[in-house]
This record gives sequence, C-alpha cells and structure tokens, in this order.
Amino acid sequence: MEKKRVYSGIRATGRFHLGNYFGAVKGMLELQDKYDCVFSVVDLHAITTPYDPKALRENVRDVILDYLAAGLDPEKCLIEIQSLVPEHTELAYLLSTIYPVARLEDLPTYKDKKAQYPKYVNMGLLYYPVLMAADILLYKAEFVPIGKDQEPHLEVTREIARKFNNMFGDTFAEPQSFKTDGEYVPSLTGEGKMSKTEAGSYILLTDSLDEIKRKLASVPTDSGEIGGEVPKSGGVAVLFELLKLFEREDLYKKYEKDYMDKKIRYSEMKEELANIIYEALSPIQKKREEIKRSFDLDNMVVEHTKICREIAATTLLDAKQKMGLV
Ligand code: TRP
Repeated sequence: MEKKRVYSGIRATGRFHLGNYFGAVKGMLELQDKYDCVFSVVDLHAITTPYDPKALRENVRDVILDYLAAGLDPEKCLIEIQSLVPEHTELAYLLSTIYPVARLEDLPTYKDKKAQYPKYVNMGLLYYPVLMAADILLYKAEFVPIGKDQEPHLEVTREIARKFNNMFGDTFAEPQSFKTDGEYVPSLTGEGKMSKTEAGSYILLTDSLDEIKRKLASVPTDSGEIGGEVPKSGGVAVLFELLKLFEREDLYKKYEKDYMDKKIRYSEMKEELANIIYEALSPIQKKREEIKRSFDLDNMVVEHTKICREIAATTLLDAKQKMGLV
C-alpha cells in the first residue's frame, strides 16, 4: 500500500531554537518513519516580509543543516528548497485565478502582517496563502503538520482544492492538518513563547555551554523566599518547564521541594539546567559539524530537487490539462 503523503514547510529565517525543536522538528522525526514526507524550506514565503538578501541563502542552508543534525534522514524523507522547484509558482498562479481577492484580504495572517509592516504590504503577502496551497497541492499531500496560526491557510487550501475539482474535474484531495506531539516552549523572558523575533527569548540548537549559561542567567527570578506552589508563569516557571522538557523529573521534584521550603537557589538551578541542556544539544551539534565536514549537502539538494520536480511536474501537467491549457 502506498504511504500517505505529508508536506510541511518552514520559513527560512535562520537557525533553530528549542521552540522549533520541541514544537516541530521532533514531530517530523516521527512522521518520517511512517509517511512519505516532503519537508520544505520555504524561501519564497520568507521574502514576503522584510529580509536581508545577503543572508537568505545562508539561512536556507542553516535550516537544512539543522534539520539533518536534529535527525531528519535524507534517505527517508525529501528535503525541498521551495524556489528550486518552480512548479510551485506556476501552480500558484493557476490556482490564483479561481480564488477571490476579498477572501485573501480578510485573512487574519494578512491583516497582522499588514499592521506589522505597514510600508511593506506587497502582492506576495496577499498571495501567500495561494502559494502555500500550491505547495501542498503540488504534492497531493493529505496531511500537513502546522501550528494553529496556519489553520486558516489550510482552509484556503481546501477551498481551492474543492473549487478546482468542481470547475475542472477531480484532481486534488483536501488536505487535513495534523497534530504532532509538539510541545510548547516558553520564552526565556517569562512571557509568551520562545521566538526568533524576540532577542533574549531563545536558546539555539548551536549555542555553546557559555551562551546557554549566559542566557539562563538573565531569566528573571524572585528572591527564592516565596514558597508555596511553583508558579505557572514567569521566569521561575520557565526554569521548571525546561527541566520537564529535558525529562528531568527527578530534578523537577528536588527543586520543587526547595521552592516550597523557600530554600531554592536559582543560580545553582540555572547552572545545572545549562549543563543538562548543553549535554542534550551536544550530540546534535557534533552531528551538525560532521555533516558540514563530510556530507555533500549540495549533492543531496540536487538529488532531492530532481525527485521533487518529477512529482511536481506530473501534478502541474494534470492541472494544466484539466484547465485546458495543454
Ligand atoms: N506558512 C507556513 C508558516 O509560516 C510555512 C509554510 C509554507 C507551510 N508553505 C507551507 C507549512 C505548506 C505547511 C505546508 O509556518
């Protein structure tokens, strides 16, 4: 039996932090064993908001290196660079002709970005969900692991698939969003989630022990004399949450007791936590160095692009035939 296809994309905005790792990549590692997966670095989506052209190629490379270092296996899944498969943009154009502008203008993601970058409201930004629909439909993916914020885009994708099928005959399956066991990683600032756009909020997979120590040192804590239950929010909660994410229930319990007894020493807790995090990251970092040294990344990209384009070309031809273009 054919395996079902999974497609997901990550914007090329730089190296992964713990939030990407626990929230998305760990889920991908499980999926690659069960499904026919295509994981993409969506550089064409990344250029719809202000960016540095000089850093873009390097960012794309960093994402691929992080994917592989974290355990994505190029023998098991396809890794795609979106812009190297031009079928994405061609299908996106075709799909754009059957979708109303007004629906796109109404999407919360578009409105948010418009408010965030009032001087950068470009056509690509409005077009973003159509390109995303093309990404998914090009591979006829049935499952799409995404965060909650991307749900409206998947709804657009389903509407487009439905409408296309109605107008031109059965072509696309309607994809479903897919929940992996991703976990929420709080920001080191104690407010909101770990995010690349907030300085001081994240630990990168490539951080050194010193960097991790320095970042943890700035997590806001209290005087250590508060007692009672461990708080559910703020810096102290972040330290406890990290112990959980790194599966140190033993230390969680120990520090929880110290907290309740009002004798917790945060400097000691942070020191211990930094060592735990570094120990967990160091095999990933070693693997990353090894890949950089001895793995032919460029060749992998060429090979995977070739396979991706074959799949993509078949779908595109089918769509063009149905639309009467060929
Ligand atoms: N828009 C997605 C995000 O910002 C990235 C993305 C682009 C994507 N194309 C996709 C995700 C296709 C899943 C499937 O997170």
